[in-house]
Formats: sequence, structure tokens, C-alpha cells
Amino acid sequence: MAILVTGGAGYIGSHTCVELLIAGFEIVVVDNLSNSNINVLNRIRELTKKDFKFYEVDLIDKSSLEDVFIENSIEAVIHFAGLKAVGESVKIPLHYYHNNITGTLFLCELMEKYDIKKLVFSSSATVYGVPINVPITEDFLLSATNPYGRTKLMIEEILRDLYIQNRDWNIVILRYFNPIGAHPSGRLGEDPNGLPNNLMPYITQVGIGKLEELRVFGNDYPTSDGTGVRDYIHVVDLALGHLKALEKVMSTSGIDAYNLGTGRGYSVLEVVEAFEKASGRKVPYTVVERRPGDIPICYADVNKAKKELGWAATRGIGDMCLDSWQWQIKNPNGYEDFKHISKIKMN
Ligand code: NAD
Ligand code: UD1
Repeated sequence: MAILVTGGAGYIGSHTCVELLIAGFEIVVVDNLSNSNINVLNRIRELTKKDFKFYEVDLIDKSSLEDVFIENSIEAVIHFAGLKAVGESVKIPLHYYHNNITGTLFLCELMEKYDIKKLVFSSSATVYGVPINVPITEDFLLSATNPYGRTKLMIEEILRDLYIQNRDWNIVILRYFNPIGAHPSGRLGEDPNGLPNNLMPYITQVGIGKLEELRVFGNDYPTSDGTGVRDYIHVVDLALGHLKALEKVMSTSGIDAYNLGTGRGYSVLEVVEAFEKASGRKVPYTVVERRPGDIPICYADVNKAKKELGWAATRGIGDMCLDSWQWQIKNPNGYEDFKHISKIKMN
């Protein structure tokens, strides 16, 4: 029996595949490689010394997806596959709705057809919209401010309806806060396309000299130093959270949502300081206007995950910065060089 991992070649998915294989699970990975690189798969194999099946399949291609269900004996699904760039989702909303929602509908339809009712779903703290308070508990009102966030919110609701219709479903919704960091080996990490949108990849690219300086989006928020506060979580801690979620879906039926964060917020300038300490590099910055759509402060109450999943993050901001930095210096162009090599080999 295997765990189907959709989006397993991506940033969080690849780290989770490593932890699943180390823990002794058999996995089957499905990814259309729209935001990832095929060489990630060999790095997962290299790190774990274990093999697994990979299907380059788009979730929207239902008949190819069905082949995966026919050819494998699947016990549960961890569903990472989705598009995640907020700005892009505003520009091409229909593509986001189609990819994220239709993809999830096809996946769930096939799960029903093949009687597989255990699912772990990647949601996001973005479903809390502009939170009225911090720390954020799972029972806060949900809302979304952009198409990407709405896909997460809609999928959460679809999954709830699925459970209401058939109480045999076991579903865990994980709401990630801000994943950063990389595998401590320096072999896996985040490889954004083009100019990074998110803080940590931007900082590491400034650290290595690819970008000139960081633009700090506003220093007039009601926070200790005026810059935005977020709950950054090490991607390996996040990956381990999926193993705990998997244990839960394997053992009980129901649907529940959990915050995965550290429960502690850091401002932009605190992250810059922690990065400088971990890397020994200076990060020059300029304060610019607030980024539209940003919220001032966001961090999780993590008690529910602690109590019900038996999970808590253990890696601090120093480890997160160090591992992000190691990944950046060991792979200055991300997986790009490897894309080039595989192209040459193919020709
Ligand atoms: P990622 O882009 O690195 O990984 C997603 C993977 O899904 C990619 O490999 C992509 O090629 C694949 N994919 C996308 N659409 C697909 C489709 N239709 N069929 C098959 N594969 C498809 O992103 P990530 O950071 O690893 O995020 C994983 C999940 O977690 C996403 O659902 C994302 O929305 C969610 N999430 C991410 C963050 C974050 O900051 N990284 C925060 C909250 C939630
Ligand atoms: C962004 C997404 C959010 C998503 C989350 C995790 C937006 C508006 N929101 O959130 O939906 O769930 O990523 O993927 O894109 N910052 C700078 N300079 C930069 C980049 C960021 O000052 O160049 C600041 C931001 O203003 C924020 C903090 O750093 O205060 C973190 O930003 P980021 O990493 O983009 O994450 P979020 O804004 O939390």
C-alpha cells in the first residue's frame, strides 16, 4: 500500500517525500512539473537511498490520473499540487480556479471511485484573510482576499461537503503559516521562478549578490519595529507535520483543520538580522511602500496541532536562515543548472 503524493516534486512536497520514505512509507508521486524540476526526484532518491514511482501527470488530465489509481494500491493521499502565487492568481484567476479546484475535484472523484477516503490537504493561513487578532486559532472566521486564497477556501468547503455526504472520509486540512528553510543537506530547497515574491528567497538572493538590496514593504505597521510580522516555519518541521496528519487520517474518520506554524512571529527586520547572523552576509535594504494586500501581523496558535496531532515545530529562526542560506550557496541557480544538463542529455 502506498501514499499518493500530488505535487511531490515541489518545495514542501519534496521535503515531505523524504520524511515519508525515511519513515518507511511507500510513495507514488504525481506532478506535472509546472513549478518544479524533474531532478528533484533523484535528489529525494539520493537522500533517502529509496526508490519510488513518479508520474508526470496533470491532475486536470483525469484519465491519466486514473491510470495512477489503477496501477497502484493507494492507501491515502497527501495533496500538495496547486498553483500558489498570489499576484499571478489575480492576473489569471480562471487558470488558478481550474488548476486548483478542478484538479482537486478530479482527485476526490477518483478517490471515491477507488474507495480511498484518507486525505491530507495543503491549505494556508491565507484563509484567515485579515485576522482580527493574534494568535490565530483554527476557529477564526475564514475569508480570502485574492483568487489563490479563494481556491484554498473553496477546497476546504468542498472537503467539508464531502465528509457530510459520506462520514467514512478521513480528512486533515493543514493551514501552513510561512514555510522557509531547506533540507539541511543543501540538496533540496525552494527554487522560485524569476524574481522571488516571498521574503526569504529574496533575502538569500541578496545575500549571494544576485539581487542588490531588499525592499522592505512598509515600516509603519503597528508592530515592534513597524515591519510586518509572520510566523515562519522550517520546511522540515512542516514535512514532519504531514506524517502526524497521516497518522490521524489512518486512524480516525472526520474532518479537521490544523495550523502548522511555530506560534511565534518575527518582523521583517528581525528575519534580516537572523539571516545576517546565520550567513555572515550583510543584507542592504530600503524601506518602500506597503505591498498591497499585506496584513500587519500573523502568527498561529499551535495548541490544537500539539494536542491532537502530537506535533510541534522544533527548529528556530536561526536554523531556518542557515538552511535557506546553505541551499542558496550550494545551488546558486536553484535546480536550473540541472535543467540545462538534462536538456543536453536528452538531445
Ligand atoms: P510548489 O509550487 O513548490 O509545489 C506545488 C507542486 O504542484 C509543483 O511541483 C507543481 O508542479 C505541482 N502542480 C501544480 N499544479 C498541478 C497540477 N494541476 N497537476 C499536477 N501537479 C501540479 O509549492 P509549495 O510551496 O511546495 O506548496 C505546496 C502546497 O502548499 C500548495 O498547494 C500551496 O498552495 C500550499 N501552500 C504553500 C505555502 C508556501 O508558502 N510555500 C503556504 C501555504 C500553502
Ligand atoms: C505571502 C502571500 C500569502 C501566502 C504566503 C506564503 C501575498 C500578499 N501573500 O504571504 O498568501 O500564503 O506568502 O506563501 O503575496 N516582504 C518584504 N519584502 C519582500 C518580500 C516580503 O518586506 O521583498 C515582507 C512582507 O511585506 C511580509 C513579510 O515580508 O511582511 C513576509 O512576506 P512573504 O514572504 O511574501 O509572505 P506573506 O506576505 O506572509
